[in-house]
Amino acid sequence: MLVLKNKTCWITGAGSGIGEALAHQFAAKGANLILSGRNVNRLEMVKNKIEHHQTRVQIVPIDLTKTENLPALISEVKQQNNSIDYLINNAGVTQRALACETSEAVLRRLMEVNFFGTVALTKAVANIMLQQQSGHITIISSLAGKFGFPLRSGYSAAKHALQGYFETLRAEVAGKNINVLIVSPGRIQTAISQNALLKDGTAHQQSDPGQAKGMSVDICAKKIIKAIQKNQKDVVIGGSEVLMFYIRKWCPPLFFWLVRKVKAT
Ligand SMILES: NC(=O)c1ccc[n+]([C@@H]2O[C@H](COP(=O)([O-])OP(=O)(O)OC[C@H]3O[C@@H](n4cnc5c(N)ncnc54)[C@H](OP(=O)(O)O)[C@@H]3O)[C@@H](O)[C@H]2O)c1
Repeated sequence: MLVLKNKTCWITGAGSGIGEALAHQFAAKGANLILSGRNVNRLEMVKNKIEHHQTRVQIVPIDLTKTENLPALISEVKQQNNSIDYLINNAGVTQRALACETSEAVLRRLMEVNFFGTVALTKAVANIMLQQQSGHITIISSLAGKFGFPLRSGYSAAKHALQGYFETLRAEVAGKNINVLIVSPGRIQTAISQNALLKDGTAHQQSDPGQAKGMSVDICAKKIIKAIQKNQKDVVIGGSEVLMFYIRKWCPPLFFWLVRKVKAT
C-alpha cells in the first residue's frame, strides 16, 4: 500500500465536488495538501473544514486556461514544499450541447481546461517528480473518456485525449518510480452538470436527474484513494452506468443500440 501520511498531495478542482471530498480524505490520512482552483473563497472554506486534521494546507489559485501563469505558481509550490508526492488532476468542465450546434469557442474551452491546462500542469510536476525520483499522478477522466455519449462531444473528446496522453506518460515513466492512475467515474453526485457549458458557452445551471441518483462523492473519493494506495493503473467508478463500459467492450452492437435509446441528460 502506498503511504499518504506526511506526503504532499496537490489537488486541482479542490474547492468542490470530488476534489473537495479527496481533500478531506487525504487530510484524514495525514497528507499535506496543495489545493488549487479558481475560486479562492471556496478553497479557503475547504481549508477551514480540514484544519482539525492538523496537516499543512497551501492554497495555490490556478486557472487552467491561463498556462502562462504556471511557471510562477510552480516555483511558489517548490519554495514551500520539499517534494510533490501526489498530483491529482481533478479540475474539469463538462458540456450539454449537441455536437453540430456547439460553437468552436466552447470546444476550445473544453479542451483548454480538461486537456491543455491539465497537461501543462502535469508536465511541470512530472519533471519535478523525475528529479526527486518518485511520485504518483492521477487523472480524473470519465466514462465519457471511454466512449462517446450524447451532448458531450467536446468533453468526451477531451477526456479521450487525456486517456491517450496519460497512458503514454505512464509507459514513459515506468521504471522511474512514478506511477500513473487513470480514473473514469460514471455519475457522481456533484454540481458538475450545473457548471456544464451550453452550445454558446453559458452555464447549464441545472442538475441532471441522473446525476442526483449517482454515487455519493465521499464513496467516489474513497474508491479513488484506495486505487491510488493499491497502485492501480486504471479504475472505473460508479453505479449501474458502468455496465455501459463493459457492454461497449464486450458487445459493441448492443452498446450502439443502447446509446441511441439513452435519453441524453
Ligand atoms: N460528477 C460526475 O458525475 C463526474 C463524472 C465523470 C468525471 N467527472 C470528472 O470529475 C472531475 C471533478 O468534477 P466534479 O464532478 O467534482 O465537478 P465540480 O464540482 O464542478 O468540480 C470541477 C472543479 O474544476 C474546477 N475548475 C473548473 N474550471 C477550471 C479552470 N479553468 N481552472 C482551474 N480549475 C477549474 C472548479 O473549481 P473553480 O470553479 O474554483 O475553478 C471545480 O472545483 C472533473 O474532471 C469531471 O470531468 C465527474
